[in-house]
Amino acid sequence: MCGIVGYCGKKDAGNILLEGLKKLEYRGYDSAGISIIGESSIKTIKSVGKLNNLEENFALSSISGNIGIGHTRWATHGEANLQNAHPHLNSKMTISLVHNGIIENYLDLKKELIAEGYEFKSNTDTEVIVQLIDFYFKGNILNATLNAVKRLKGSYALGIISMDNPGELIAVKNNSPLLLGICDDGFMMSSEISSIVEHTNKIIYMDDLEIAQLNLNGKYKIFNYNLDEIEKEIKIMDLNTNSISKNGFDHYMLKEIFEQPHAVKNLLNKRTIDKRINLSDNFFSKEEIEKFSQIYIIACGTAFHAGEVAKFAIQKLTGKQVLCEIASEFNYNQKFVDEDALVIFISQSGETADTLMSIDEVKKIGAKTMAVVNVENSTMTREVDKVMYCYCGPEISVASTKAYTTQLANLYIVALDMALKLGKITQEELETYVDELYTIPEKMEASLKDLNVYKEIADEIKHEKSIYYTGRGMDFTSAKEGSLKLKETSYIHTEAFASGELKHGSMALMEEGTKVLTVLTQEHTLNKTASNLEELTSRGAYIYAITTYDNEVVSKNSKKIIRIADTMDIFAPMLSVVPSQLIAYYTSLAKGNDVDKPRNLAKAVTVE
Ligand code: AGP
Ligand code: GLU
Repeated sequence: MCGIVGYCGKKDAGNILLEGLKKLEYRGYDSAGISIIGESSIKTIKSVGKLNNLEENFALSSISGNIGIGHTRWATHGEANLQNAHPHLNSKMTISLVHNGIIENYLDLKKELIAEGYEFKSNTDTEVIVQLIDFYFKGNILNATLNAVKRLKGSYALGIISMDNPGELIAVKNNSPLLLGICDDGFMMSSEISSIVEHTNKIIYMDDLEIAQLNLNGKYKIFNYNLDEIEKEIKIMDLNTNSISKNGFDHYMLKEIFEQPHAVKNLLNKRTIDKRINLSDNFFSKEEIEKFSQIYIIACGTAFHAGEVAKFAIQKLTGKQVLCEIASEFNYNQKFVDEDALVIFISQSGETADTLMSIDEVKKIGAKTMAVVNVENSTMTREVDKVMYCYCGPEISVASTKAYTTQLANLYIVALDMALKLGKITQEELETYVDELYTIPEKMEASLKDLNVYKEIADEIKHEKSIYYTGRGMDFTSAKEGSLKLKETSYIHTEAFASGELKHGSMALMEEGTKVLTVLTQEHTLNKTASNLEELTSRGAYIYAITTYDNEVVSKNSKKIIRIADTMDIFAPMLSVVPSQLIAYYTSLAKGNDVDKPRNLAKAVTVE
């Protein structure tokens, strides 16, 4: 969470930092701040709330300088107030620092520093780092930083400036993302490439336990923690800055929902040639697949739901059992993965700390790893044996939409590839599946035509205290995804229930007028789920059905029916999610929420 940015070069740092922070704001937005090396002191401005507050304060100031650091925060330690906002400075105000991550041993270090006479102004874990650097400072900021970070346990990406070494910017990384931009006029550092692309396409990805010294004189050095200088590859990136705009839409979320048909088509075109699957060396061979003792899928949030859909698809097509686990649970539970297992990780950002930690755990065991990721060159892509990109372009809205449907498309291809290699389906059957997958983009378009129904539902549910989603099997997973989308954007309490499980407790929640959204797309459970609707309406529930079917029982029990196009049952989650995304979007709008940046959340969850 949170975004950090730094600049050191011939231009004035202020606007570069603010523009950079704008690109990172979706990562965290409860406060923001910048520090710039001025003529005689470090100048710092901080503001609580969204970045425009900082921009207003900056516009009123006359701060200028060539070296600076910036931060947009998602608080982990200490509430979102001015005191806790970054940058944090030592008491002499000669060292300033921004941090992304969590310092796990900060309380021990704090006690130690207090015993040395240090005083603390904030409740953050971050402040101990700057005080520790001060403690080790003997005239050289690089050495002091190195001595300080060697004492830290946890995750950090840091940008540091010092009044005593006014010609340099220090960047250091362990377990939080950090990259450098080599510009014509100097250097940038940032949590992600989006804030750098406007300035340069020359990027260095820093690895853990590396420290960079960026100089105003145009030279830079990167060291390991033994201070051995290391050569790092400069990657030439090909990134389109337009893909980060709203392109005429009011919000990124709506733009990203509408981009789905094209994104899925684009992905299918990359993954298939003449109805044959084309994964080149992206996936495993027949022999490798046969040897997999187990298949696991590990992810968080929406990506986890993509994993649950994939579980159904892989099991149905290959007959192999698949186990899905939430990364944060997997990491601290007893592990049954063995070295012959395949573990698939799914992530939009490729930076989610919980999922990265699971990759570490699985690598220790020696299992084969694969990741379905959207952000190219993100940390996850460098940690696994095989990578499948989603190629859906930057997803800026905190609520994930197009990443989910392209993750699904990728995972269906994986399931089909495995089934074919294992001889569970014939080439002819594969072609039928691939043909059907190619109809999905057009069928998604159909759900994007008349938006009134979603607006009406949003209006009807916006004042509810609780809303429930129900479904069975794959529909239960789609219900969970719909419920997550709705709760994160509308702030209404929502929960998803397996339709058949309602009678085991949750039915007690139903009363006259309780709003229930139900997903019905699976033929083999249609009648059972339809009967569950009878049970719900008998207790007063007000049903909205998202369905492929024209079923009498469903129609009789539903106040509104959102009809989605018909497809093979296993592909239905790609279609049933679109109405849920739109209901979430319009409910957030109806409530006057910040659709793209819901409260308390951040796009890339880079802390555990
Ligand atoms: C999705 O709408 C959420 N904001 C969230 O659940 C997200 O999917 C989760 O944090 C995982 O992120 P990742 O895909 O970047 O790993
Ligand atoms: N732990 C730091 C804080 O709470 C940084 C948070 C982050 O990286 O999101 O301020």
